[in-house]
Amino acid sequence: MPAINGDAVLELRDVQKTFGSTAAVDGITLSVSPGEVFTLLGPSGCGKSTTLRIVAGLEELDAGEVLLGGRLIASGARGFSLPPERRDLGMVFQSYAIWPHMTVFENVAFPLKLRGVPKNVTQSRVEHVLDLVGLSGLGSRGATDLSGGQQQRVALARAIVYEPKLLLLDEPLSNLDAKLREHMRIELRALQQRLGIAVLFVTHDQAEAMVLSDRIAVMQSGRLEQVGTPVALYERPASPFVRDFLGRVLTLEVCLRSAERAEAPGEAGVVFQLPPGCSRAVDGTSKLVLAWRPENVSIEPDSAPGLNRLSAIIESAAYLGERIEYGVRTAGGRSMLVVSTRQNRYEPGAMVGLRVDTSEATLWPGE
Ligand SMILES: Nc1ncnc2c1ncn2[C@@H]1O[C@H](COP(=O)(O)OP(=O)(O)OP(=O)(O)O)[C@@H](O)[C@H]1O
Ligand SMILES: [Mg+2]
Repeated sequence: MPAINGDAVLELRDVQKTFGSTAAVDGITLSVSPGEVFTLLGPSGCGKSTTLRIVAGLEELDAGEVLLGGRLIASGARGFSLPPERRDLGMVFQSYAIWPHMTVFENVAFPLKLRGVPKNVTQSRVEHVLDLVGLSGLGSRGATDLSGGQQQRVALARAIVYEPKLLLLDEPLSNLDAKLREHMRIELRALQQRLGIAVLFVTHDQAEAMVLSDRIAVMQSGRLEQVGTPVALYERPASPFVRDFLGRVLTLEVCLRSAERAEAPGEAGVVFQLPPGCSRAVDGTSKLVLAWRPENVSIEPDSAPGLNRLSAIIESAAYLGERIEYGVRTAGGRSMLVVSTRQNRYEPGAMVGLRVDTSEATLWPGE
């Protein structure tokens, strides 16, 4: 577990960067604790890479401050920015750029050579990290005579060989195929935990972020929308953007009937029991939206509408192996996708009930 009260490895204070009229980074404040994986997650163009490049020293900031291990390394007000090679950082970027004309060993040894580390120390350090990333014995191999996943590990080994305080990873798994990517996710997390190194990670893939991170910052248009653990963001999203960005979500417009109950206009006979405290958050709003995750809905053979239950018809069924995705249409004419296990199969045309576990639902002002 990352140290909660330890001094931050990295701190950003109101960092800003504008390109022409684009505010790529629009006032970002965050801190990364020792041993923590902190992830910037957001759609393309939201400013993730620019933030990372500012930390690396590859981009100068317009305003704000960056501190590494408590030491100021960049300041907009002072017009000061420490050059990249003098920051104690390891980096792996999207195009991981291992050097093709060098062997695996030479690739990994390169940062040590730059720093004038003696040969015998280099030899044992490189062997050690190659072992850590599962490439021992491959040091003399040409760097490009490796699989994609192995090349990825060379890039990682090169980034950690001089034991930096912080590792910056910008979509480091994006060049890999889906299967290898899932495997490397888990390996990367295990390696990070073994090394106890802090990581600032960038991705637009929410599953990758959930698996790898201690905390995630969801980013939009150069700003942080919400920062929290994967569980907190998934279960208690603070905005519709975060709610919809992390995993799938089903929404239904409802009207509040009392503090505990809501009904869905057009869905005759359907009443939803709201989680305690839910309605208080949206007092004074007449149009409301109830949102839940697909796993909070189950399909039942009894199609009668009622408490927490919508009447619906199965329109389509997609068999995906471990689960079936049903396209359904409610009695009120709303279409939605419901995920179910293989245990109970329904054919298109079947009348069913959709039971919503509303204790897991969230209530929002109308959109
Ligand atoms: N050198 C540059 N010159 C001009 N505009 C830039 C430059 N670098 C980035 N931008 C713009 O800044 C914004 C943020 O870019 P950035 O690369 O940080 O996004 P990102 O979140 O990493 O996106 P992606 O997921 O596609 O990699 C974008 O609108 C981009 O077009
Ligand atoms: Mg990027």
